[in-house]
Amino acid sequence: YTIEWDVAAAQKGGYPSFMAKEIHEQATAVADTLLGRIVEGRLQLDEMSIDEAVLRTVDKIVVVACGTAANAGNVAKYAIEHWTRIPVEVELAHEFRYRDPVVNEKTLVVAISQSGETMDTLMAMRHAKEQGAKVVALCNTRGATIPREADAALYLHVGPEIAVASTKAYLGQITASYLLGLYLAQVRGNLFADEVAAIMADLEQIPAHVQTVLDGSAQIEELAREMKDATSVLFLGRHVGYPTALEGALKLKEIAYIHAEGFAAGELKHGPIALVEEGQPVFVIVPSPGGRDSLHSKVVSNIQEVRARGARTLVIAEEGDTVVEPYADVIMRVPATRTLFAPLLTVIPLQIFSCELATAKGLDVDQPRNLAKSVTVE
Ligand code: G6P
Repeated sequence: YTIEWDVAAAQKGGYPSFMAKEIHEQATAVADTLLGRIVEGRLQLDEMSIDEAVLRTVDKIVVVACGTAANAGNVAKYAIEHWTRIPVEVELAHEFRYRDPVVNEKTLVVAISQSGETMDTLMAMRHAKEQGAKVVALCNTRGATIPREADAALYLHVGPEIAVASTKAYLGQITASYLLGLYLAQVRGNLFADEVAAIMADLEQIPAHVQTVLDGSAQIEELAREMKDATSVLFLGRHVGYPTALEGALKLKEIAYIHAEGFAAGELKHGPIALVEEGQPVFVIVPSPGGRDSLHSKVVSNIQEVRARGARTLVIAEEGDTVVEPYADVIMRVPATRTLFAPLLTVIPLQIFSCELATAKGLDVDQPRNLAKSVTVE
C-alpha cells in the first residue's frame, strides 16, 4: 500500500495554484512587511542606512521598476509626494537611462524589485549611482544583486513568491513604499510624530481589512468563471485607483491571455470611450466618497457614461457607498480606509478575478506562456 505524494500539490497548501495561495497569504504579507518596523507607535527603519543629513538634501525621487513593481511605484508616487512634498517620478527601468535623465547627488532613486535580479532595474540603478544618486531598494529576495548594490535595502519579508504573476510581493512593495515615505517625512520634518503615528495606526489595520476582502472572494470567483470567454476587459481608476487599474489589466494579460487595458478614468472622454460598445465589461475602481475633492462623483459620472453606451459595469467600491449602487451591474466591496491605503485592498478582487478566470480556462496560472519570474537579460 503506497500513498501518492505530490510535492507540488502539498506546497500549494490545498489551493489550485501557487498564485491562489499567494493571493490568500496577503493579510500576512502586509503584516510581515510592517513587522518590527512600528515600535510603540513609532516608525523605526533601522535598515535605512543612508545618512539622515543626505536624505534632507534630496530634491527629487525617481522610482525605477518593471512590470508589477512599476505599478507599485505608481502608487508610491501618490503617497510619497503627499507626505514629503518631494517631487516623485516613476520610470520604467528600461526606458530610464536611455533618455539621459536628470539625476545627481540630490536625487534619491528607489529601485523596486521582488526578485532583486531584474537586469533592466539593476542597470537603471547603476546608471543613477554613477551620477551620484543614492539608491534605496525595496526587494523581497535577501542578498540579491539590487539590494546588495543599493545604499540601503528595505526588505518586503513576504516570503518566497513562486507564481510568475506577482501578488503578495505587490502588496509588500506598496507597504514598504509607505514606510519609506513616512520615514522621509519624519526625517525631513514634514509630519509631526503624532501625525506619523496616526497614519501608521491606520496602516496597522490593513491586514485585517485585506482578510475581509479575501473572505468575500466567492463573489468575484463566480464572476470570473462566468466571464471565462471574455475577449476584452477595460479597467478604469483615478488617483491611486489608476495604478490599480493598470495592475488589474496587467494581471489579466499575463495569466488569462485576455486583451485588457487600464485607463485613468478622466482620460476616458479623450479617446478610450470610443472602445465601449454593447456588452463591453468595464471594471471601475471607485474612490472613497469621503476622499479628496469631487473625485468620487467624477468617477460615478464615468460609470454612467460607459453604462449609457452599453458597458457592463463591474464596480469596486467602499462599504457603505450607496451612491454608486444604481450604476453598478456587479458591485464588490472593500472596507473603508485612508485614500492612500486603498490600493492594498482594491487590487485584491482584480487579482482573484484573473487567477480564477485563468484557472477556469484550464491555463497554467503559475507559469504563463512566454513569461519568466525574473528577467535577468536586458
Ligand atoms: C517579470 C515578471 C513580472 C514582474 C517583473 C518585475 O516580468 O514576469 O511578474 O513584475 O518581472 O520583477 P521584479 O522581480 O523586478 O519585481
